[in-house]
Amino acid sequence: MNIVLLGAPGAGKGTQAAKLVAEFGTPHISTGDMLRAAVKAGTPLGKKAQSYMNAGELVPDEVIIGLVTERLSEPDTQKGFILDGFPRTSAQAVALDAELSRLNRPLDAALLVDVKFDVIIKRLTSRRMCKECGFIGTDALSSCPKCGGEMYQRSDDNEQTVRNRLEVYERSTAPLIDYYRGSDLLVTVDGDRDVELVYNDIKQLLHL
Ligand code: AP5
Ligand code: ZN
Repeated sequence: MNIVLLGAPGAGKGTQAAKLVAEFGTPHISTGDMLRAAVKAGTPLGKKAQSYMNAGELVPDEVIIGLVTERLSEPDTQKGFILDGFPRTSAQAVALDAELSRLNRPLDAALLVDVKFDVIIKRLTSRRMCKECGFIGTDALSSCPKCGGEMYQRSDDNEQTVRNRLEVYERSTAPLIDYYRGSDLLVTVDGDRDVELVYNDIKQLLHL
């Protein structure tokens, strides 16, 4: 499967991608995770990206496009990929189309995880992630249910930054819904239900 996950911050893209990876082993390419790893490692990319991320703004297109193009050249992605958090602008979508056509690996679907903004604000301000394994959970957990690791709150998950991320999403990323509808690749799932119900729908919609 070659798929793009679309949806607002906090819609559940990472949660559903983790389930697809666990069941199908498809490589998960999350630009947010890649950037957070670069910030943690203090690389030049991380230093460049950090201030944009903390403010809830997008990292410049040329930086992200280079990062994803490089990742798609790695051999494991030949068996498929789940792109999560990319593309996020029209320029990124056009660059992705060009790269996939050059590689002769067309997209099978652009899956929109659809959730209303008021639900998202609650989800993101209570989200906690595992420091050790990246498990995505909530503030109801005192430690990671997978590995026992410490849970932390992302620096961009405070209400003010979340609101800005939603504005940026509306302005720059939501237009991609029409872009993919236009090329007949758009599939939409109602993401405001139990995680397992959403996942079962996704498998049906993607014929998995
Ligand atoms: P990124 O890491 O991509 O963040 P995002 O798009 O804001 O998405 P999130 O990770 O916040 O949400 P999600 O949809 O994965 O939700 P999750 O599954 O965790 O990007 C971060 C930053 O990096 C950007 O702001 C930007 O600066 C930069 N960046 C990244 N990519 C870029 C690009 N292409 N171009 C430019 N800049 C880029 O779930 C959220 C919460 O809800 C969790 O607590 C979860 O447990 C809970 N939850 C999930 N599903 C359900 C459900 N069905 N019911 C109840 N709760 C649920
Ligand atoms: Zn863990």
